Amino acid sequence: MITKKILIFGASGQVGRYCIRRFVKNNYKVIAVTRNVHKKGYILKTQAPIGYLDIIESNIFDENKLIELISKVDVCINLVGILNEKGKINTFKNIHTNFPKKLAEICDAKKVKFVHISALGLEDAKDSKYASSKINGEKFIREMLPSATIIKPSLVYSVDDNSTTKFMSLLSVLPIFPLYYGGRTKFTPIHVSELAELIFFVVSKELYSKTIEAIGPEVLTFKQILQTLMKCIKKNRILLPMPLPLARMTAFFMQVLPQPLITQDQINLLKYDNIKTINGITNFDVGCPSNLKFEETVKDYAFNWTEGGQFSNT
Ligand SMILES: NC(=O)c1ccc[n+]([C@@H]2O[C@H](COP(=O)([O-])OP(=O)(O)OC[C@H]3O[C@@H](n4cnc5c(N)ncnc54)[C@H](OP(=O)(O)O)[C@@H]3O)[C@@H](O)[C@H]2O)c1
Repeated sequence: MITKKILIFGASGQVGRYCIRRFVKNNYKVIAVTRNVHKKGYILKTQAPIGYLDIIESNIFDENKLIELISKVDVCINLVGILNEKGKINTFKNIHTNFPKKLAEICDAKKVKFVHISALGLEDAKDSKYASSKINGEKFIREMLPSATIIKPSLVYSVDDNSTTKFMSLLSVLPIFPLYYGGRTKFTPIHVSELAELIFFVVSKELYSKTIEAIGPEVLTFKQILQTLMKCIKKNRILLPMPLPLARMTAFFMQVLPQPLITQDQINLLKYDNIKTINGITNFDVGCPSNLKFEETVKDYAFNWTEGGQFSNT
């Protein structure tokens, strides 16, 4: 029996797919929004049993469509986020500030609960456009819809991510790997299943009007993350501290690629630790702790990148 209807923007992404599976398991009906049903419909439709998932194609800047979709549900979850800007429409400001602001406005008018996923480690990163756009999005939501809950995850990892899997692909072939800021930046990686559990926890327990930092059980530096990944794929690579001007120059040239490995904005962001803030409330504090340890969990999927694995080049 269907209990509540949940609308998810960015449902086809890493976090979105885990969220769909988590919600339908408890008889919630999910309406998943994607920009391109031909590209993402195949992956989306395998996430839920028949009757529990509707897949809708929509432009996220079509206000009338947003109103129509939000009017039909009990809760709206925003998972849309980008790491690189593309063209005049897909800018950090449009995606991370204007879009969540619009969602908050419509949720307020339609009396629909709103859960927004932002990110950790943004407050000090004044020199990152990504960070400022996410912070401005949070500010507008707080002003417009105080009942919204904002979740701020650290690095989210899984076999479907764009970080550990990308690093393992590179570490499996490159003899040397660059370390930005000496690899000292700290992270608290959280497995995507535990982030999805937190999102489910917030909705099912009606934990609104909160800002929750979503962290894993360990603090690891960027260097320790790379060392763990090397251990998991059984490769020994040289981790070479890269001087900042050189890092910026390579990023400057890389960011024109369609899928850049790193951009100048990401280099700026990497300077700041991605850990719990001093007064922050975390998933541990609200009663939804995460237990999955980074090394043990990555080992479960790293075999694909070991010698002879399907993503290994050797
Ligand atoms: N992954 C992390 O380590 C991490 C860490 C901190 C915070 N977060 C935040 O958590 C949220 C979810 O992350 P994720 O890892 O699931 O991201 P993801 O895998 O990149 O998925 C994001 C989804 O957003 C949609 N999207 C992307 N660009 C869009 C655009 N220009 N217009 C409309 N929709 C667009 C895409 O859906 P369609 O293509 O189907 O439209 C995509 O599936 C994001 O807000 C992200 O910033 C992630």
